[in-house]
Amino acid sequence: MAYAIEMLNITKDFPGIRANDNVTIQVEANTVHALLGENGAGKSTIMSILFGLYQPTSGIIKVNGKEVHISNPNIANSLGIGMVHQHFKLVDCFTVTENIILGMEPKTKYGTVDIKKAAEKISKLSEKYGLNVDPYAKIENISVGMQQRVEILKMLYRNSDILIFDEPTAVLTPQEIHELMLIMRNLVKEGKTILLITHKLKEIKEVADHCTVLRKGKCIGTIDVKDTTERQMAEMMVGREVNFSVHKEKAQPKEVVLSIKNLNCNNFKGLRAVKDFSLDVRAGEIVGLAGIDGNGQTELVYAITGLAKSESGSIFLNGQDITNLPVKGRLDAGMAHVPEDRHKHGLVLDFPLKENFIIHCYKDRPFSVNHILQPQKIDEYADFLIKEFDVRSGQGKESKTRDMSGGNQQKAIIARELDRHAKLVIVVQPTRGLDVGAIEYIHSRIVAQRDAGAAVLLVSLELDEILNLSDKIAVIYDGQLSGYVNAEDTDENEIGLMMSGSIKKVGDCHE
Ligand SMILES: Nc1ncnc2c1ncn2[C@@H]1O[C@H](COP(=O)(O)OP(=O)(O)OP(=O)(O)O)[C@@H](O)[C@H]1O
Ligand SMILES: [Mg+2]
Repeated sequence: MAYAIEMLNITKDFPGIRANDNVTIQVEANTVHALLGENGAGKSTIMSILFGLYQPTSGIIKVNGKEVHISNPNIANSLGIGMVHQHFKLVDCFTVTENIILGMEPKTKYGTVDIKKAAEKISKLSEKYGLNVDPYAKIENISVGMQQRVEILKMLYRNSDILIFDEPTAVLTPQEIHELMLIMRNLVKEGKTILLITHKLKEIKEVADHCTVLRKGKCIGTIDVKDTTERQMAEMMVGREVNFSVHKEKAQPKEVVLSIKNLNCNNFKGLRAVKDFSLDVRAGEIVGLAGIDGNGQTELVYAITGLAKSESGSIFLNGQDITNLPVKGRLDAGMAHVPEDRHKHGLVLDFPLKENFIIHCYKDRPFSVNHILQPQKIDEYADFLIKEFDVRSGQGKESKTRDMSGGNQQKAIIARELDRHAKLVIVVQPTRGLDVGAIEYIHSRIVAQRDAGAAVLLVSLELDEILNLSDKIAVIYDGQLSGYVNAEDTDENEIGLMMSGSIKKVGDCHE
């Protein structure tokens, strides 16, 4: 058997935690090899070791049968190993080409950077692999899906043969996911080998040949994907049976909590993104907002939560006009928000976990008394949330949030926001990057908020999540409300048609 990569008996210790415990992964050349495991199982860590970002505490790595020491990413690059990280590493104000050639700029005979030559090479690669990327576009102006394809081009430009993808589909739309799967098969056909971290079992079934399962740092086994069902993989990963559908009673909607009236908002380019949008969300119900990415959901949520100003129209929370209140004013009025971008709006990454938990309320009792912080109360509360929401990290409440795994960062935000028991809970992509076990738990907590009387607005790109969790479904298309239906009276097809603007079905979303 020709192995492109062998990671043998890898162990990696971080302060307070053994992230990888004697893990062995053998990857056949020219295959897609998936890595599956709960949040914090050690997937990103072991791939970062392969990419030279961390050194293993012990263990051996072989590339094409030869033992190697990958002490930094430059060595990984020279061995033909490339990586697309869980959180992209692109310079926003640079163009696609400038990002791709960063650190290895081709020079003209006058010693200046030869952008034209690089851009031509990038165009050719883009065409060969069907990536459809404009080499002169600026990163800040292109979609997340396109940014990811830039990361892929970066690897191809450097002639990498072994491509590591860390949760590449967590930020993509269903259409983009489908395209990425095709690109991956194409890459394998052209002789590349792919290592793929994902929580989505469907994707593993669709694209991977083998799958190694990790649990709490240990290797549970490697399976042949075609002989294993999704259910079996899920069980292997969490060590128990997983419920894929959400159990909930019929909703008992009460008074209107959030009322959006004729709202108009612009996007950052100054173009109209939300158009005359009206919607009510009542206490005791979950309204799911479905839509293809980029149809105004981000701008709508920014306007409701105060992250951006609206142009006209109004927003009421429990009868109070909050249209022009600052973010803090809205939080105090009873709003909780799990933001779309956890790094930008969810956490202060250099603060320890316990400080992120009290970030909205550190001035209030019991965390402050007479303007003096109460460390014991803060610690107790952090321990409580960590236990309640199963937030895993090396040093518990003292962990720097930046060092936590992506899924556990997300769980930390959800814990903080849901525990505020707000009247209005806005959750945007709440389960992005979570493992199937954690998704099951978070969904049940969102339903519990509803049952306790909160009004829940769920914004998600995952149609399964919308259909599973919502009592009513609103659809946004081109900034306008194109659908408003009872979840039980609709199906995936109808929602899909409303999402693409093919049909419009707006019942009485207002009294
Ligand atoms: N730089 C670091 N310093 C300290 N601890 C770390 C560091 N990087 C990772 N860890 C810890 O190692 C463990 C494994 O983390 P890792 O990021 O590999 O998980 P993961 O399987 O990728 O999870 P997820 O699915 O949530 O992304 C976690 O408990 C994490 O807190
Ligand atoms: Mg990870």
